[in-house]
Amino acid sequence: MGPDCRIGDFVLVTVPKLFMGEGSQLNAGCLIVGRKPCRIGRHVVVSYNATVLTSSDSVAPKMDDASSESERNMVEGEVEIGDYAYVGAYALVNPCVKIGRGAVVGAYSYVDKDIGDYEVGWGQPWRRRKTRRVD
Ligand SMILES: CC(C)(COP(=O)(O)OP(=O)(O)OC[C@H]1O[C@@H](n2cnc3c(N)ncnc32)[C@H](O)[C@@H]1OP(=O)(O)O)[C@@H](O)C(=O)NCCC(=O)NCCS
Repeated sequence: MGPDCRIGDFVLVTVPKLFMGEGSQLNAGCLIVGRKPCRIGRHVVVSYNATVLTSSDSVAPKMDDASSESERNMVEGEVEIGDYAYVGAYALVNPCVKIGRGAVVGAYSYVDKDIGDYEVGWGQPWRRRKTRRVD
């Protein structure tokens, strides 16, 4: 973890490795959970109650709560969040997703695909709406 990182109250981290660059923050209530690592760059904000998953159940092939792990459709993979990116409150970021440098994920977004550098968007699923100005 780099210098000047801030971790809010009630943040839960269960990933095997969490990398956090200088000046990044996880605000209160964030979940960074799953079986794979999560890489957070410098000066990133993950806002209140946002969730980052590095593994997750996909829809089970049959409607059976007792499906064995091998029958469950697990998706897992590292999540990367680039320098200066902003993840809004209550957003959900899925496994394998890469969020680009300076990108913005609006509040309550559902992110299931990569987001390019400086792209700004929101929604379920997240969609690009604009590009952040870089002066
Ligand atoms: C993504 C975001 C940065 C975009 O801000 P913006 O560029 O100023 O966008 P605007 O406020 O001009 O919104 C444009 C339109 O999109 C809608 N919109 C914006 N963000 C939205 C979101 N997260 N979900 C759904 N709709 C959203 C607005 O209601 C507005 O709709 P309208 O055109 O019908 O009026 C901002 O809306 C956001 O989600 N910020 C995160 C807030 C947060 O999580 N704060 C945590 C505490 S610090």
